[in-house]
Amino acid sequence: MTDLTGRHLVRGVDHAAFPTFDPAGTVTFYRDVLGLPVVHSICAAGWGPEDHPDFIHFFFDIGNGDRIAFFYYFGLERPERLDRGDSFAQFGSDVPEYFVRSRHLALHVDSEEALLEYRRRLDASSWPVEMQLQHETIESIYTHDPNGYFFEITRALRPVTPQEDLDANLTIDALVDIVSRPGHTLDDLLARKAELIVERAGAWQEQQDAVRQNITQPSGVHA
Ligand SMILES: [Fe+2]
Repeated sequence: MTDLTGRHLVRGVDHAAFPTFDPAGTVTFYRDVLGLPVVHSICAAGWGPEDHPDFIHFFFDIGNGDRIAFFYYFGLERPERLDRGDSFAQFGSDVPEYFVRSRHLALHVDSEEALLEYRRRLDASSWPVEMQLQHETIESIYTHDPNGYFFEITRALRPVTPQEDLDANLTIDALVDIVSRPGHTLDDLLARKAELIVERAGAWQEQQDAVRQNITQPSGVHA
Protein backbone atom coordinates (compact mmCIF):
# COMPACT_ATOMS: atom_id res chain seq x y z
CA MET A 1 0.00 0.00 0.00
CA THR A 2 1.30 3.47 -0.82
CA ASP A 3 0.08 7.00 -0.29
CA LEU A 4 -0.75 9.40 -3.11
CA THR A 5 2.91 10.31 -3.64
CA GLY A 6 3.86 6.66 -4.12
CA ARG A 7 5.70 6.31 -0.81
CA HIS A 8 4.97 3.21 1.23
CA LEU A 9 3.24 3.69 4.54
CA VAL A 10 5.09 1.36 6.91
CA ARG A 11 7.47 2.75 9.52
CA GLY A 12 10.06 0.15 10.42
CA VAL A 13 9.72 -2.99 12.51
CA ASP A 14 7.02 -2.98 15.18
CA HIS A 15 8.33 -6.21 16.66
CA ALA A 16 10.01 -9.43 15.61
CA ALA A 17 9.13 -12.41 17.82
CA PHE A 18 11.04 -15.60 18.61
CA PRO A 19 10.52 -18.58 20.93
CA THR A 20 12.90 -19.11 23.85
CA PHE A 21 13.66 -22.05 26.13
CA ASP A 22 16.05 -19.87 28.18
CA PRO A 23 14.18 -16.76 29.37
CA ALA A 24 16.77 -16.00 32.08
CA GLY A 25 19.64 -16.06 29.57
CA THR A 26 17.57 -14.04 27.13
CA VAL A 27 16.90 -11.32 29.73
CA THR A 28 20.58 -11.28 30.70
CA PHE A 29 21.69 -10.93 27.07
CA TYR A 30 19.23 -8.31 25.86
CA ARG A 31 18.51 -6.30 29.03
CA ASP A 32 21.64 -6.62 31.16
CA VAL A 33 24.43 -6.97 28.57
CA LEU A 34 23.02 -4.88 25.71
CA GLY A 35 20.99 -2.53 27.91
CA LEU A 36 17.73 -2.91 25.98
CA PRO A 37 14.91 -2.22 28.47
CA VAL A 38 11.91 -4.51 28.92
CA VAL A 39 9.00 -2.44 27.61
CA HIS A 40 6.06 -4.80 27.58
CA SER A 41 5.09 -8.28 28.72
CA ILE A 42 1.97 -10.39 28.52
CA CYS A 43 1.17 -13.10 31.08
CA ALA A 44 -1.16 -15.40 29.20
CA ALA A 45 -2.95 -18.02 31.32
CA GLY A 46 -5.47 -20.37 29.75
CA TRP A 47 -4.81 -18.92 26.33
CA GLY A 48 -6.70 -20.16 23.30
CA PRO A 49 -7.39 -23.85 22.74
CA GLU A 50 -7.26 -26.27 25.67
CA ASP A 51 -3.84 -27.74 24.87
CA HIS A 52 -2.15 -24.33 24.53
CA PRO A 53 0.30 -23.87 27.42
CA ASP A 54 0.44 -20.77 29.57
CA PHE A 55 3.12 -18.41 28.32
CA ILE A 56 4.96 -15.14 28.86
CA HIS A 57 5.41 -12.87 25.84
CA PHE A 58 8.03 -10.23 26.62
CA PHE A 59 9.43 -7.33 24.65
CA PHE A 60 12.69 -5.34 24.64
CA ASP A 61 13.02 -1.84 23.16
CA ILE A 62 15.49 -1.78 20.24
CA GLY A 63 15.18 1.92 19.45
CA ASN A 64 12.94 3.88 17.08
CA GLY A 65 9.92 2.41 18.90
CA ASP A 66 10.81 -1.00 17.43
CA ARG A 67 10.92 -4.09 19.67
CA ILE A 68 12.27 -7.61 19.80
CA ALA A 69 9.97 -10.07 21.56
CA PHE A 70 10.12 -13.59 22.92
CA PHE A 71 7.64 -16.31 23.83
CA TYR A 72 8.34 -18.57 26.80
CA TYR A 73 5.89 -21.49 27.03
CA PHE A 74 5.56 -23.15 30.45
CA GLY A 75 6.14 -26.89 30.39
CA LEU A 76 7.10 -27.09 26.73
CA GLU A 77 10.04 -29.42 26.28
CA ARG A 78 12.83 -28.28 23.98
CA PRO A 79 12.73 -30.45 20.84
CA GLU A 80 15.57 -32.91 20.39
CA ARG A 81 18.64 -30.92 19.39
CA LEU A 82 20.31 -31.65 16.10
CA ASP A 83 23.83 -30.57 15.25
CA ARG A 84 23.08 -26.93 14.54
CA GLY A 85 20.36 -24.34 14.62
CA ASP A 86 18.49 -22.36 17.24
CA SER A 87 15.42 -22.58 19.46
CA PHE A 88 13.17 -22.30 16.43
CA ALA A 89 14.92 -24.30 13.72
CA GLN A 90 17.28 -27.26 13.97
CA PHE A 91 19.50 -28.50 11.17
CA GLY A 92 21.53 -31.64 10.59
CA SER A 93 25.20 -31.69 9.64
CA ASP A 94 24.29 -31.90 5.94
CA VAL A 95 23.02 -28.30 5.96
CA PRO A 96 25.81 -25.78 5.24
CA GLU A 97 26.77 -23.32 7.97
CA TYR A 98 26.22 -20.32 5.67
CA PHE A 99 22.58 -21.38 5.29
CA VAL A 100 22.07 -21.84 9.03
CA ARG A 101 23.49 -18.36 9.69
CA SER A 102 21.61 -16.63 6.90
CA ARG A 103 18.50 -15.92 9.01
CA HIS A 104 19.43 -13.35 11.62
CA LEU A 105 18.44 -10.09 13.23
CA ALA A 106 20.65 -7.01 12.82
CA LEU A 107 20.31 -3.97 15.05
CA HIS A 108 21.53 -0.62 13.74
CA VAL A 109 23.88 1.81 15.50
CA ASP A 110 24.94 5.23 14.24
CA SER A 111 28.69 5.25 14.84
CA GLU A 112 31.91 3.25 15.16
CA GLU A 113 32.05 4.26 18.84
CA ALA A 114 28.62 2.72 19.45
CA LEU A 115 29.58 -0.46 17.59
CA LEU A 116 32.77 -0.81 19.62
CA GLU A 117 30.87 -0.16 22.86
CA TYR A 118 28.59 -3.10 22.07
CA ARG A 119 31.64 -5.16 21.14
CA ARG A 120 33.10 -4.36 24.57
CA ARG A 121 29.89 -5.31 26.37
CA LEU A 122 29.50 -8.58 24.47
CA ASP A 123 33.15 -9.55 24.87
CA ALA A 124 32.78 -9.11 28.64
CA SER A 125 29.68 -11.35 28.66
CA SER A 126 29.01 -15.06 28.09
CA TRP A 127 28.30 -14.24 24.43
CA PRO A 128 31.52 -12.69 23.04
CA VAL A 129 31.68 -11.32 19.50
CA GLU A 130 32.43 -14.15 17.07
CA MET A 131 33.43 -11.93 14.17
CA GLN A 132 33.72 -8.27 13.18
CA LEU A 133 33.52 -7.55 9.47
CA GLN A 134 33.47 -4.64 7.05
CA HIS A 135 31.54 -5.60 3.94
CA GLU A 136 30.22 -3.41 1.16
CA THR A 137 28.80 -0.33 2.89
CA ILE A 138 28.57 -1.60 6.48
CA GLU A 139 30.63 -2.83 9.43
CA SER A 140 29.11 -5.46 11.71
CA ILE A 141 29.74 -7.53 14.81
CA TYR A 142 28.13 -10.94 15.19
CA THR A 143 27.39 -13.40 17.95
CA HIS A 144 24.75 -15.99 18.87
CA ASP A 145 22.24 -15.08 21.58
CA PRO A 146 21.33 -17.54 24.39
CA ASN A 147 18.72 -19.13 22.11
CA GLY A 148 21.19 -19.80 19.31
CA TYR A 149 19.80 -16.99 17.15
CA PHE A 150 22.52 -15.43 15.01
CA PHE A 151 22.66 -11.77 16.03
CA GLU A 152 24.30 -8.77 14.37
CA ILE A 153 24.90 -5.14 15.29
CA THR A 154 25.79 -2.98 12.31
CA ARG A 155 26.76 0.56 11.31
CA ALA A 156 26.86 2.24 7.92
CA LEU A 157 30.34 3.08 6.61
CA ARG A 158 28.83 5.64 4.25
CA PRO A 159 25.37 6.57 2.93
CA VAL A 160 23.90 4.42 0.18
CA THR A 161 23.63 6.42 -3.05
CA PRO A 162 20.59 6.62 -5.37
CA GLN A 163 22.76 4.92 -8.02
CA GLU A 164 23.19 1.94 -5.68
CA ASP A 165 19.43 1.80 -5.13
CA LEU A 166 19.00 1.71 -8.91
CA ASP A 167 21.62 -1.04 -9.15
CA ALA A 168 19.82 -3.02 -6.43
CA ASN A 169 16.58 -2.84 -8.38
CA LEU A 170 18.31 -3.98 -11.56
CA THR A 171 19.76 -6.95 -9.69
CA ILE A 172 16.41 -7.97 -8.25
CA ASP A 173 14.55 -7.53 -11.55
CA ALA A 174 17.21 -9.69 -13.24
CA LEU A 175 16.97 -12.32 -10.49
CA VAL A 176 13.19 -12.54 -10.85
CA ASP A 177 13.61 -12.90 -14.62
CA ILE A 178 16.15 -15.77 -14.50
CA VAL A 179 15.24 -17.71 -11.37
CA SER A 180 12.77 -20.02 -13.14
CA ARG A 181 15.44 -21.16 -15.63
CA PRO A 182 16.72 -24.65 -14.76
CA GLY A 183 20.30 -24.52 -13.44
CA HIS A 184 20.41 -20.72 -13.34
CA THR A 185 23.67 -19.16 -12.18
CA LEU A 186 25.05 -15.78 -11.13
CA ASP A 187 26.40 -15.44 -14.69
CA ASP A 188 22.82 -15.72 -16.00
CA LEU A 189 21.78 -12.95 -13.63
CA LEU A 190 24.65 -10.68 -14.69
CA ALA A 191 23.86 -11.26 -18.38
CA ARG A 192 20.17 -10.45 -17.79
CA LYS A 193 21.16 -7.36 -15.79
CA ALA A 194 23.24 -6.14 -18.74
CA GLU A 195 20.22 -6.63 -21.02
CA LEU A 196 18.02 -4.63 -18.65
CA ILE A 197 20.57 -1.80 -18.56
CA VAL A 198 20.53 -1.64 -22.36
CA GLU A 199 16.71 -1.79 -22.43
CA ARG A 200 16.34 1.00 -19.89
CA ALA A 201 19.24 3.26 -20.83
CA GLY A 202 17.13 5.33 -23.25
CA ALA A 203 14.49 6.11 -20.63
CA TRP A 204 17.17 7.04 -18.06
CA GLN A 205 18.80 9.39 -20.58
CA GLU A 206 15.46 11.11 -21.16
CA GLN A 207 14.97 11.48 -17.39
CA GLN A 208 18.47 12.93 -17.00
CA ASP A 209 17.87 15.36 -19.86
CA ALA A 210 14.58 16.46 -18.29
CA VAL A 211 16.26 17.01 -14.91
CA ARG A 212 19.09 18.98 -16.56
CA GLN A 213 16.59 21.10 -18.47
CA ASN A 214 14.70 21.88 -15.25
CA ILE A 215 17.96 22.97 -13.62
CA THR A 216 18.98 25.26 -16.48
CA GLN A 217 15.45 26.62 -16.97
CA PRO A 218 13.96 27.69 -13.62
CA SER A 219 10.19 27.27 -13.46
CA GLY A 220 8.28 30.02 -15.24
CA VAL A 221 11.17 30.76 -17.62
CA HIS A 222 10.63 29.41 -21.15
CA ALA A 223 13.15 29.48 -23.95
FE1 LIG B 1 23.01 -8.96 8.20
